[in-house]
Amino acid sequence: MKTEPNPPQNPASTVQPVPMLDLKRQYQPLHQELLNALGQVLATQQFILGEPVAAFEKAAAAQLGVAHAIGCSSGTDALWLALAAAEIGSGHAVVTTPFSFFASTSAILRAGTTPLLADIDPATFNLNPVAVEAVLNGPQGAAVRAILPVHLFGQCADWASFTRIAKERNLKLIEDAAQAWGAECNGLKAGALGDAAAFSFYPTKNLSAAGDAGMVTTNSGEIAERARMMRQHGMRRRYYHDELGWNARMDGFQGAILSVKLRYIDTWNQLRRTVARRYHALFHAAGLVEAGPYPIHGIVLPQEVRGTHHVWHQYVIRATCRDGLRAFLTERKIGSEIYYPVPLHLQAALKSLGYSEGSFPEAERAAREVLALPIFPELREDEQQTVVSAITEFLS
Ligand SMILES: Cc1ncc(COP(=O)(O)O)c(C=O)c1O
Repeated sequence: MKTEPNPPQNPASTVQPVPMLDLKRQYQPLHQELLNALGQVLATQQFILGEPVAAFEKAAAAQLGVAHAIGCSSGTDALWLALAAAEIGSGHAVVTTPFSFFASTSAILRAGTTPLLADIDPATFNLNPVAVEAVLNGPQGAAVRAILPVHLFGQCADWASFTRIAKERNLKLIEDAAQAWGAECNGLKAGALGDAAAFSFYPTKNLSAAGDAGMVTTNSGEIAERARMMRQHGMRRRYYHDELGWNARMDGFQGAILSVKLRYIDTWNQLRRTVARRYHALFHAAGLVEAGPYPIHGIVLPQEVRGTHHVWHQYVIRATCRDGLRAFLTERKIGSEIYYPVPLHLQAALKSLGYSEGSFPEAERAAREVLALPIFPELREDEQQTVVSAITEFLS
């Protein structure tokens, strides 16, 4: 039999593509369950708040072990609502991290409050309590009413230290738990740690809606009552506006979808932990791992801090030649992402905060070195091997 000669192959075309995230793999087995839930909303025509959202709020609060959960329109609105409900506003300041998504800081400004930034811990990328204390002891420290740590990439910030600092100085703690559904610190779930917390259910989050949605959680009846009022234009009684709130309501469709997914999130988080463990093992076997916190020739792996339960929303390595590595992976159709390429103090929109290059060396260094690799519950072992082989090839 006559065979065609093989066409010349470039090495990139022989490698299987690996997506950064493939939401279809989560959706397919849930297809019918989700359609049924959406059908219920259509049948009752409760499109905004109503029973579908109330049911999700109840189940979410029970799962997190927190007294109150208030569904809202996005994680950004949840941050603003949490601050407004905790009565943090004009004339106050809030300390947060420069290494996060923009909303962690923009929501503070939206609440009429001044953000003060403090540098991060290079090992976890989370807000560093020592740096926070330096800000509190500084010239603007007296105006600070709250600390807003972010549980970045799915791992809780150093809550024992922040609790101590907050107690000593009578400050509120607001969690940005947008990336951390199911994460824990010393046996308590993210969302139940601070005075109030904000979650995002943006479609790429580990617990995700089919559009924008978010949630405030709190153990304070007073904060919960205010958050419910503020998410509906400051109304306690229909068309009587006690305060200047906003439209920050959750849609019924999102509540219905989230109620379905809430039943699976623990399993998905466990699978994420399996994926992270496999990356660890594969990278160690490849001999690429350096002790850190900074890489020299190889890579530094993310670590789970003792006493925390990491849900691996992202698996973020550090690499010295990060941009070259990313280009190499992209050429091989292997997904990756940079969270975050520009720290918040260097963002054009936040120039007025008065920081400059060099203000937060750890955040700036992280922005140059971090690379998030594909991670999601359904990611296969052979796909992870492809990722690790490509990185090995690039570094050798
Ligand atoms: C850390 C962090 N905070 C806040 C947000 C804002 O959430 P959303 O996009 O739902 O407004 C996000 C998500 O994008 C986030 O990752």
